[in-house]
Amino acid sequence: MNALFEGFARVWTAVALASELKPGAPLAVQVAGTGVVLFRDKANTVRALVDRCPHRGVALSLGKVRDGCIECPFHGWRLDGTGQVCHVPWNPDAKLDTLQGVAVPARELAGQLWIYTAAGEEAPTEPSVHEALLRPGVRVSGRAIVWNTHWTRAMENMLDWPHLPFVHANTIGKNMVRQASSRMDITWEDRPWGAHTHIAIDGKAEPGSLDLRWPNQMNLHIPIPNKLLMMFVTCVPVDAQRTRMILTMARDFLTLPLFDLFFHRSNLRIANEDKAIVESSWPAEVPRPGDERSVRTDAVTLAFRKRYFAELHCSSSEAPAGPKGRLPVLG
Ligand code: FES
Ligand SMILES: [Fe+2]
Repeated sequence: MNALFEGFARVWTAVALASELKPGAPLAVQVAGTGVVLFRDKANTVRALVDRCPHRGVALSLGKVRDGCIECPFHGWRLDGTGQVCHVPWNPDAKLDTLQGVAVPARELAGQLWIYTAAGEEAPTEPSVHEALLRPGVRVSGRAIVWNTHWTRAMENMLDWPHLPFVHANTIGKNMVRQASSRMDITWEDRPWGAHTHIAIDGKAEPGSLDLRWPNQMNLHIPIPNKLLMMFVTCVPVDAQRTRMILTMARDFLTLPLFDLFFHRSNLRIANEDKAIVESSWPAEVPRPGDERSVRTDAVTLAFRKRYFAELHCSSSEAPAGPKGRLPVLG
């Protein structure tokens, strides 16, 4: 069986910042154990293929982009953005229509590169992003880092309100430190794209909100009067032990690019406050809801966990069969 994107199939996910895809060069990413190569075609549209040559299975991402196609580094076969082989050196008589790689749906949106985690299938939907990321006059900037943990632990951490005054006592949790002996009530509101959550402490609504954009985006609204400041984290599964954290911020003030580094540093500082603690979680993948002890304020993470086990944990995509019923690509 050629199972691809195991545990994370048939969802849209950002996989990289658009700035990481350099002109004329392929970009290799790994998503839920499956290698994917991204490149731009002649029209400058981002394309993605499973990162395996249909000839001898080598990584296409080691090759070059030529005329909007990816050229395999081994024998120079060229594949276009649909996965179709369009040139086979030394073999002008090759039956090209029998030679295909595996395409993966790809998009470029909000300064990020996205794939739909299915091989050889059309995506039934489009990626979902917060409207602030598309608003004129809003500066969006970001970087990616790697956490050594399963993406579900990273994602639950992103949705976790009660940890803020403990892990982030000097940053985003500062105002909550003195309130930690109070009662927190968390409100979860279902949305078509995921869930909107906010809190009250001792019955008083707190400003700010934290959203889950299913399955792996966190959107945090940081309340500043008359200003927009939002933090976004996408937890991209690399494999069972690693998660690519795409950290971005959107702001409508200090919008000159020279301020990007300042905002990235503050985002990185907050992420680093969590990193070692989350990486120490055992087991690496979140267990089923009843397998760890939980309390009322764990409702948000438990809701995420429940949906994960219902929709993603056992999911996979199968590489389409080749012309003679063989599977041409190994994940
Ligand atoms: S392995 Fe790719 S062309 Fe031979
Ligand atoms: Fe945190």
